[in-house]
Amino acid sequence: MDFEENITGRRLVSAAGVADELGADVDLRPRKLKDYIGQEQLKRSLSVFIRAARNRGEPLDHTLFHGFPGLGKTTLAYIIANEMGAGIKVTSGPVIERPGDLAAILTSLQGGDVLFIDEIHRLNHVVEEILYPAMEDYQLDLVIGQGPGARSVKMDLPRFTLVGATTRTGLLTPPLRDRFGVILRLDFYSAEELVAIIKRSARLMDIAIDEEGALELGRRSRGTPRIANRLLRRVRDFSEVGGHPKINKQVADEALNILAVDRYGLDEMDRRILLTLIDKFQGGPIGIDNLATVVCEEKNTLEDVYEPFLIQSGFLVRTPRGRMATVAAYEHFGRTVHPGLARQQGLFE
Ligand code: ADE
Repeated sequence: MDFEENITGRRLVSAAGVADELGADVDLRPRKLKDYIGQEQLKRSLSVFIRAARNRGEPLDHTLFHGFPGLGKTTLAYIIANEMGAGIKVTSGPVIERPGDLAAILTSLQGGDVLFIDEIHRLNHVVEEILYPAMEDYQLDLVIGQGPGARSVKMDLPRFTLVGATTRTGLLTPPLRDRFGVILRLDFYSAEELVAIIKRSARLMDIAIDEEGALELGRRSRGTPRIANRLLRRVRDFSEVGGHPKINKQVADEALNILAVDRYGLDEMDRRILLTLIDKFQGGPIGIDNLATVVCEEKNTLEDVYEPFLIQSGFLVRTPRGRMATVAAYEHFGRTVHPGLARQQGLFE
């Protein structure tokens, strides 16, 4: 069992939100685009679209955010509503089971409101078809009943902005994707941006942390603000219990080592994936199905949760023949790089 599972019952560096934590995070969310740290290019575009829509007195076009979990898609939806002076309703793809569920939400909207649908790629197709005319013509088209007695009901809806969030646009059906006027991508954050986010969160939570302490946390947060804020809370626990008045590099370092988050933010599962490749398969390539079996994890979880960060950090590569550990991974774990791998990765001629 993972160490962090022992003490928290879940993966400490998972980017997935947890209900209580999302509640706790609300105060940490910036409400204005100018207070949102990072994603500079996205912010530049979004601020133009918001200003233009506001000047025309129209709602913002339907907007799709895509990016890995924990990068701030929900925060941006709240910011859009706030900047547009509009209300917001928040739901998610798997929660809307039937057309009637979506109809209830749509008919409760006021003109200009934002409807935020997280994990929009998980809407079922019957529900998705209700969304098409709603997005395009602000029309609700419902069929009530079944068989010969079925009736079609049409209703005008107020003009609203749909904000959708997904991990990958490729997961959306083309007709749904095409109905978004604005499609914006969120990237992992740099360590410097995470330091700024951590310092801001520490200020809001009244936690004393110095620059180097924040940098240590930032480096180990997998490019993800949600993880940075979570690690900040956990390290605060260690510093309080240890009687340290301030989180400095040493306090952060010790706490994160106890939490089994290494200096690149890798946790037990990341280590298991890379060490399996290195120690059992000479670095790979190995197919994703085999890898999933050996590390006892779902293939989809490997692909969506673990791999993106390992690839981004340069520890893992996807090749047509399967996954491979990189020379950087060998070096990170102090393993000797065999010449075949080094040659393949261009280190020797
Ligand atoms: N950018 C992304 N998440 C953020 C947060 N929680 N606070 C400030 N800027 C952010």
